[in-house]
Amino acid sequence: MKNKFIKNICCIGAGYVGGPTMSVIALNCPDFRVDVVDINKERIEAWNSDNLSKLPVFEPGLAEIICKCRGINLFFSNNIEECISKADIIFISVNTPTKTKGVGAGYASDLKWIESSARQIAKFSKNHTVIVEKSTLPVKTAETIKIILNSSDDNHNKCIDTDVNQTFSIVSNPEFLAEGTAINDLQNPDRVLIGGDDDESINLISDIYINWVDRDKIIKTNLWSSELSKLVANAFLAQRISSINSISALCESTGANILEVSKAIGSDTRIGNKFLNPGPGFGGSCFKKDILNLVYLCRYYGLNEVAEYWEQIVNINTWQQKRISHLVIKNLFGTLANKRLAIFGFSFKANTNDTRESPSINISKNLLQEGAKLTFYDPKVNESQILDDLDDLIDNNILVYETALKAAQGADAILILTEWNEFINLGWDHIYKVMRKPAWIFDARICLNKNKLEDIGFKVWSLGT
Ligand code: UDX
Ligand code: UDX
Repeated sequence: MKNKFIKNICCIGAGYVGGPTMSVIALNCPDFRVDVVDINKERIEAWNSDNLSKLPVFEPGLAEIICKCRGINLFFSNNIEECISKADIIFISVNTPTKTKGVGAGYASDLKWIESSARQIAKFSKNHTVIVEKSTLPVKTAETIKIILNSSDDNHNKCIDTDVNQTFSIVSNPEFLAEGTAINDLQNPDRVLIGGDDDESINLISDIYINWVDRDKIIKTNLWSSELSKLVANAFLAQRISSINSISALCESTGANILEVSKAIGSDTRIGNKFLNPGPGFGGSCFKKDILNLVYLCRYYGLNEVAEYWEQIVNINTWQQKRISHLVIKNLFGTLANKRLAIFGFSFKANTNDTRESPSINISKNLLQEGAKLTFYDPKVNESQILDDLDDLIDNNILVYETALKAAQGADAILILTEWNEFINLGWDHIYKVMRKPAWIFDARICLNKNKLEDIGFKVWSLGT
C-alpha cells in the first residue's frame, strides 16, 4: 500500500522537548507522519494513555493536541528500529545532562545518549536521512555525530551487504520552548533557528515550519552558529535573572523595592521588561547545564576570563538560594529544630510538573540540614517525585499533602517557592488559624499581597522589599 504521508519524521526522545515539539509538528503538518520513540517503556505507555491526565508531561494545551493527532499522524512507541528505518528526517531529543565524572565533570555535557542515538541511526536508517539536533548540545557536537555515522561498523556492514545507499546530513534546530508555555512558544515562536552545511537539508527542515511560521522568522545559519546561539540565548536569559536577583539583596539592605526597580529599568526599551522577575533563582533542565557547558567551552579554548564571567551567573544563583534559606533560619530565631515549615511549590516554575534543578530542592535541603520538618504542597508535582528529589535527606522529616491547608497545619512558616496562580487566592484567613504563631510567610516569588496577609496577622518577608 502506498504511504499516505509525504514525509516520515522520527523523533528519538519522548521527553519534555520531544513530546510537545512533535505534537505541534503533527498538528500543523497533517501530511507528515510523526513517530516519537523512546527507550523508556513506561513513558511511552503514559503518552499512549487514554486518561490524558496521565501524560508524562503536563503542558497547558498539550492534551488537546494529543487528542486531535494521536493515532492519526502522531504515534508514540518503542519501535526505535522500525521508525528510524522508514524516516526521512530524524530529530534527536534525548537528554544531555552535565557529566558527573571523568573529563569535564561538573561542566561538560554527557553525550552518551547522543552517541547511542547516532549509533542506532547508523544501524537502522536507509537511504538519505536528515538528522536534526534538537537537544541542546555543546558546540561542534554535529562533528561527533558525523564521525559516528560515517565510521560505524553497522553502517559499513550494511553498505557492503546490501544495496542500501545510506547517506546523512546533519542540521541543528535548537528548541527555544519554555516549559509551562511550550505549546504557545512552539505555535508562535519568536524565531526558528536552522543551522547546517547544505541548503537542501536546511530547506527541508524549513519546509516543515513554514506550515505555520512566517518565513521571515526562520533564521538560517551555519551549524556552529546555531549550536552556539542556543547556549548563548540561555546564558543571556539566565544572566538577567541573576542580575535582578543580585539587586533584590541590595534592595533589602537599602529600602528600595525590587518590583519598583524592575519596572523602572524594564521600561527602557533597550533593556525591555521581560525576564526581570526576581525569585529564588532559576531552575529547569537547561540554564545551569548550558552555562556550565559554555564555561567549559571557553576554558577549552583558553578564554579563562570569559569562562569566569559566565560562571558567576551560576554562582549568584546558588548564592540566592542559600541567602533565602539563611533568612528563613534567622527570622525563626536562629534555629529550625522542632519547627515545621510548609513548602508551597516544588516545580521549578509554575504550570509545569518538572522539578529538575528546582530552587525548591536546594532550599528544602538547606532547611532539612538545619533540623526542620518539612511539609509540601504543589498542585502538579506528586509525592514520589518530591521524595525522589530529596532522597538522601528524607529521614521521616517530610510529608507531602494534597491541599495547601493540610500542609500548613501546625506549621511555623510557609515558603512560597513557585509562583502558582492558585496561591494568590488561597483561604489565607483559614490557613493563618491552623498555623503555630507567630505564623510566617516567606514569599520568594513576590506573588502574594503582603499588606493583606499582614492584616490577617501573618509576619511576612517578601523578597527584595
Ligand atoms: C531536552 C533536551 O534534549 C536537552 O538537551 C535539553 O537541554 C533539555 O531538554 P528533555 O526532553 O527535557 O531534554 O529531557 P527528558 O524529558 O529527560 O527526555 C529525554 C528522553 O529521551 C527520555 O524519555 C529518555 O528515555 C529518552 N532517551 C534517552 C531515549 O529514548 N534514548 C536514549 O538513548 C536516551
Ligand atoms: C528555558 C528557556 O527560556 C527556553 O528558551 C529554553 O529552550 C529552555 O530553557 P525553561 O527553563 O523551560 O526555558 O523556563 P524559563 O521560563 O526560561 O524559566 C527558567 C527559570 O528561570 C525558572 O526557574 C523560572 O522561575 C526562572 N525565572 C524566569 C525567573 O526567576 N525570573 C524570570 O523573570 C524568568
